[in-house]
Amino acid sequence: SDSDPLQDFCVGDLKASPSINGFPCKSAVSASDFFYSGLGGPLDTSNPNGANVAPANVLTFPGLNTLGISMNNVELAPGGVNSPHLHPRATEVGTVIEGSVFVGFLTTNNTLFSKVLNAGEAFVIPRGLVHFQWNVGQVKARLITAFNSQLPGAVILPNTLFGSNPEIPNAVLTRAFRTDDTTVHNLKSKFAG
Ligand code: GLV
Ligand code: MN
Repeated sequence: SDSDPLQDFCVGDLKASPSINGFPCKSAVSASDFFYSGLGGPLDTSNPNGANVAPANVLTFPGLNTLGISMNNVELAPGGVNSPHLHPRATEVGTVIEGSVFVGFLTTNNTLFSKVLNAGEAFVIPRGLVHFQWNVGQVKARLITAFNSQLPGAVILPNTLFGSNPEIPNAVLTRAFRTDDTTVHNLKSKFAG
């Protein structure tokens, strides 16, 4: 949903300051600006989520600048979860490359739409809605996702709520989650930094 380009391309000059809606165009362009080799993995999923994401967005693949499109490689260890998150600037479409993945998104009325997908099956996440992926298979899972923005952004709910800088006051979070200070303190300790 980014704005339409006004020229064939405008490879981002990441050394320049971001301009009104993206990066200024780089002057010397070559074929290598339009190819990217970072989507094949394998990614390290030895973290508490058992998940890792490698983005091919304008910041890693400047040839995407002004073109309104980008991709991710998502890998999940068995049981791994790509935490509930949303993209403020893009609808997401994705396909499972290997493994078996429970994919879900939530509407603004808190209805969950979900399905277990296997290789070759696809899903769509409407722009701005909370969604997640969970590897329900016995082996590693891999997905390729794509976005109609060169920089979709990701609001990762646990990190946003419990790992912000500065912190959201405990008084806000204990009320919001109808829980106690100890629980909030414990959650914050997992997401600090
Ligand atoms: C998956 O939801 C992704 O954002 O790549
Ligand atoms: Mn996503």
